[in-house]
Amino acid sequence: MARKKIALIGGGQIGGTLAHLAGLKEMGDIVIFDIAEGLPQGKALDLAQSAAVDGFNSTLSGTQDYKDIAGADVIIVTAGVPRKPGMSRDDLLGINLKVMKSVGEGIKANAPDAFVICITNPLDAMVWALREFSGLPHHMIVGMAGVLDSSRFQHFLADEFNVSIEDVSAFVMGGHGDTMVPLPRYSTVAGIPLPDLVAMGWTSQEKLDQIVQRTRDGGAEIVKLLKTGSAFYAPAASAIEMAQSYLKDKKRVLPVAAHLNGEYGMKDLYVGVPVVIGANGVERVVEIKLNDAEKAEFDKSANAVKELIAVCKTLEPSLA
Ligand code: APR
Repeated sequence: MARKKIALIGGGQIGGTLAHLAGLKEMGDIVIFDIAEGLPQGKALDLAQSAAVDGFNSTLSGTQDYKDIAGADVIIVTAGVPRKPGMSRDDLLGINLKVMKSVGEGIKANAPDAFVICITNPLDAMVWALREFSGLPHHMIVGMAGVLDSSRFQHFLADEFNVSIEDVSAFVMGGHGDTMVPLPRYSTVAGIPLPDLVAMGWTSQEKLDQIVQRTRDGGAEIVKLLKTGSAFYAPAASAIEMAQSYLKDKKRVLPVAAHLNGEYGMKDLYVGVPVVIGANGVERVVEIKLNDAEKAEFDKSANAVKELIAVCKTLEPSLA
């Protein structure tokens, strides 16, 4: 059986980390595409030279030619610009929409059978646009956000309770922005929902509310600290988890930006919801029961994504 092929479009901070993780986990051979000449070649060579020490078998290469992504099983897209302090993800829309156009056309012409994971921000609108430009079936293209937002929530909860992060399960839905929807009722420590833990005195409602807000601001907190770019280790790890579920047909239930066609009362929209990812891509959208307050928050978040999609349509007439 031939090795799998992983194409990374964008070889910057997240792209380089993705290549490293994909190599260490022996997910397959790795091609890094980037418009910056020499950058993907340099990173590929550096990483290939780490294989002797870490003992992994992956061929790594860098390219400026979309032809080299032909036959990719999985494509992870991080091409574009990240935030600087003071910027919101939405401020990136104009520049990154143009990038999605060239990436979508490159995928359409060279690797139309791949499972595509988009990370470029503003996430939900960019994955919608990338789908339009690439023409891929909706179930074969998703956005990475919910896994990252949930892992941030898990980290803050494990810290607050002083328990292993392995026993914390957390759930964040909605768009990857200020309106994202962390769901305490569906977040647990060893199966015990957060509202029960408040009742048990493990934390206060006030502290939990602060953690929820810190989760929403999780990306901005890191941008402010780094000053020159945005988070890359946790975003890369999150996308790798999604890619593994596809490549190994694990059927993980993961929150991702997925296409909605009536689910949650939304149509032709990409937004964060739980889905099953297996060998057929998005195999099922899981519709959980939201209470009125959660549904109102989800609708608000979905509407924020709809507004961004409307802006995309005005900027790029071919999307209208
Ligand atoms: N095609 C291919 N690569 C491109 C293009 C393009 N049209 N335009 C820019 N790039 C490359 C840049 O050359 C750079 O190497 O995308 C890479 C982006 O890397 P970084 O600037 O390091 O950004 P990173 O932190 O990896 O984030 C990438 O993911 O989380 C989001 O908000 C983040 O939108 C940003 C993206």
